[in-house]
Amino acid sequence: MRIIPCTSIGQEGWLACRQALWPDTMAGEHLAEMRTALGDPDRYAQFMASATNGRALGFAEAALRMDYVNGTDSTPVAFVEGLYVTPEYRRQGIGTLLIVEVILWARAHGCTELASDALLDNEVSQEMHRSLGFEETERVVFFRKLI
Ligand SMILES: CC(C)(COP(=O)(O)OP(=O)(O)OC[C@H]1O[C@@H](n2cnc3c(N)ncnc32)[C@H](O)[C@@H]1OP(=O)(O)O)[C@@H](O)C(=O)NCCC(=O)NCCS
Repeated sequence: MRIIPCTSIGQEGWLACRQALWPDTMAGEHLAEMRTALGDPDRYAQFMASATNGRALGFAEAALRMDYVNGTDSTPVAFVEGLYVTPEYRRQGIGTLLIVEVILWARAHGCTELASDALLDNEVSQEMHRSLGFEETERVVFFRKLI
């Protein structure tokens, strides 16, 4: 297994991994987001965990966020936008390796903080963050009102 950067929207398994993590997003929207990310490498990074036979085992995406990120002290902050490991390959350190790659990318872009989020009921993700040295900063509830 190795961690490789995604270099094209046709990257083996990238779209499928995205669809597994964000099933409510239409394929066309995924592809548009992937194009945007590939077109702005100073702001976005994306990595695949790839088996030696080329099979995709997971992915991570990160971005430099210029707006304020809850609980952080610097700008820009690197943010883990997406992280997913194929179910049968979980708990083998792949998520950890993907985050390590994101950290290397963030440091190379001058960041001193890496931020992330997890849904309140995603205790596995919260546990993984804690085990990788993330500290919990805030719990928030989003609202909206049609106006
Ligand atoms: C969260 C996720 C990416 C973790 O990937 P992974 O490759 O299994 O993670 P790792 O093997 O690197 O685990 C690192 C540590 O996280 C913690 N952890 C991971 N899975 C866990 C679980 N099911 N229960 C408890 N702790 C867990 C452990 O401390 C683990 O270290 P250990 O195995 O030495 O005890 C994976 O479970 C996943 O894709 N989940 C669905 C998508 C998702 O929730 N993504 C995150 C969105 S914020």
